Amino acid sequence: MSTKQFDVVVIGAGPGGYIAAIRAAQLGFSVACVDEWSNAKGGAAPGGTCTNVGCIPSKALLQSSEHFEHAGHSFAEHGIDVAGLKLNLGQMLKRKDTVVKQNNDGILYLFKKNKIAFFHGRAAFAAAAGTYEISVTGAANETLTAKHVVIATGSNARELPGAPFDEKLILSNTGALTIDAVPAKLGVIGAGVIGLEMGSVWRRLGSDVTVLEGLPVFLGAVDEQIAKEASKLFIKQGLKINLGCKIGAITPGKKDVTVEFVDAKGEAQKAVFDKLIISIGRTPNTNGLGADKVGLQLDERGFIAVDGDCKTNLPNVWAVGDVVRGPMLAHKAEEEGVAVAERIAGQHGHTNFNTIPWVIYTSPEIAWVGKTEQTLKAEGIAYKAGTFPFMANGRARALGDTSGMVKFLADATTDEILGVHIVGPMASELISEAVVAMEFKASAEDIARICHAHPSLSEATKEAALAVDKRTLNF
Ligand code: FAD
Ligand code: NAI
Repeated sequence: MSTKQFDVVVIGAGPGGYIAAIRAAQLGFSVACVDEWSNAKGGAAPGGTCTNVGCIPSKALLQSSEHFEHAGHSFAEHGIDVAGLKLNLGQMLKRKDTVVKQNNDGILYLFKKNKIAFFHGRAAFAAAAGTYEISVTGAANETLTAKHVVIATGSNARELPGAPFDEKLILSNTGALTIDAVPAKLGVIGAGVIGLEMGSVWRRLGSDVTVLEGLPVFLGAVDEQIAKEASKLFIKQGLKINLGCKIGAITPGKKDVTVEFVDAKGEAQKAVFDKLIISIGRTPNTNGLGADKVGLQLDERGFIAVDGDCKTNLPNVWAVGDVVRGPMLAHKAEEEGVAVAERIAGQHGHTNFNTIPWVIYTSPEIAWVGKTEQTLKAEGIAYKAGTFPFMANGRARALGDTSGMVKFLADATTDEILGVHIVGPMASELISEAVVAMEFKASAEDIARICHAHPSLSEATKEAALAVDKRTLNF
């Protein structure tokens, strides 16, 4: 084992860690990044949850399953007859794995390009005396020393007590992405982001999907009007969504799993599923990091305690991404990673938590930024609202996807945009305009006066902005 010295050691190569490493290298530091994730062959697989079992593989399967659904249900309307349509799930999963590998390889290339030393193994604090000593064990066995340490160790799926993930019958996100035969009956506990995305994938491929949600409301963090519209569309598609369920015993059998629960009416129910996905949120990952060895403080929920600048209680130790407070989103992790590298360089890195977009990649997609109508009401902020349905948008009609709407919320006095909420086609792309507008403190009128290409879905954004002033042109 040798000792290698760096200015900055980053622990974790997910979106928080690898981006922090790249930015630190750009700023002239000598940088090492350590990550323990291995692929099926035991090789390094940087990219974290996002690349390996999160954003990337889920979006690959969402895309493939959407093609399958279109081929089966909407091609005929376009005059395309597909005879003998058949699912080749093996190929679909293989393609997903290829997309993941391309991303792993892309990050390894970026490490090389930026002269970042990458170590495949588990990092743990060994000692702190002026500089930090980090031991790496695994494929690489090294001791690294650094003045600055950035922790980006991510999160793990939360288990339900008494129902540990076996990834065969009781699945976390990891197992949900590798089911090798379409389950006839799929149960999902938790109607959150993963539940809806993975539930949609398997429903499109032919599963009868039942979602059991604990809360009495659907997508509580989403604007109520948008959530209501989305719920209607998902139910129409065939997702069976049960709100207000109290989950009881979960009993795996040989080939299926039984879930006992009390439904919203207070009645005891029992459901048998071929597979069960549990997606009830995620917990921060500080396993084996040696946090106690150096006195690194965690908060009461196990997150690494940080201030607004991602500083921990230890000098020159920073933490970003899912392992700290705030939304568990890849782009939030990346923004924090960039900001921390810039702060290490004495610059004023900044993350604007008010303009972090959210996207749920269902069909239609749900995307939003800023405040919801219910939050504005609760906070007593006077606002004006404007909505525009995709039904009245020419491009949406041509696409054959007219579900949903764009909704603007603007300050009643200043007209500043306070929130934009979309359920509809390509909402994930459309939301960027709203993020830019809010970053620049634009008014709804600013968007309404900008020329938008025709025919495009973005015209619905312009029209929703016009609707704030009750002067839509096409509705
Ligand atoms: P991670 O990506 O979890 O990376 C942490 C890395 O640290 C891992 O590689 C881990 O192996 C490594 N590590 C941990 N401890 C050590 C150690 N001691 N030594 C060495 N290495 C260590 N977010 C979005 O914004 N958009 C999406 O579409 C989206 N889809 C998702 C879909 C699913 C199914 C899931 C589960 C999540 C999704 N997310 C999405 C969330 C996103 O994946 C996370 O917010 C993001 O990955 C967090 O990045 P991170 O860098 O903080 O941590
Ligand atoms: P989530 O927080 O989105 O949803 C969890 C759901 O489970 C909630 O509706 C919650 O009320 C419910 N729940 C919690 N405990 C329960 C219980 N005991 N019984 C029944 N229901 C219960 O968490 P999820 O879906 O696991 O995803 C984790 C995180 O990963 C997300 O919060 C998000 O940050 C990230 N993610 C982001 C994606 C994106 O940006 N498109 C996609 C997938 C995940």
